[in-house]
Amino acid sequence: MLSKPMQKALNEQIMHEINSAYLYLAMSMHSSSVGLQGFATWLRVQWQEELAHAMKLTEIVHDRGGRVALQAVEKPPAEFKSPQDIFHQVLAHEQKITALINRLYETALKEDDYATQVEVQWFIKEQIEEEKNATTILDQLTMAGESGASLMMLDRALAARAAH
Ligand SMILES: [Fe+2]
Ligand SMILES: [Fe+2]
Repeated sequence: MLSKPMQKALNEQIMHEINSAYLYLAMSMHSSSVGLQGFATWLRVQWQEELAHAMKLTEIVHDRGGRVALQAVEKPPAEFKSPQDIFHQVLAHEQKITALINRLYETALKEDDYATQVEVQWFIKEQIEEEKNATTILDQLTMAGESGASLMMLDRALAARAAH
């Protein structure tokens, strides 16, 4: 059985993952509208991945006899300055999520909840990947610089990210 503080913390993380999904969907929509279909595809896959994170957390709550209470999500921005601006925001957002996941783990430690500690370790590892992905794309955008041709090549490369 989940403790009340643990259930509350897991419910908050569900909201944060759905917020992430919604932010990446907004970024995907914006990329589509400016003709960057590869960026749009990559961000749409990321939207799905964030929803999968949220669903994974709902399963953790349900498996332990807890209750999921969905919360309000934030309205994401509709406009972004550039792909660079988008990936600066993705990286900053994922760094914020890493801090939240770490705090979730702290709650599991404080509650002596060993089962949740094991589950949250998956998310700790996943955040390494999330920050690495955002950093890599941001580095590639920096290399592409002002060159339209380089940006188009990067856009084509990002289009290869398949849904999973
Ligand atoms: Fe996530
Ligand atoms: Fe991931």
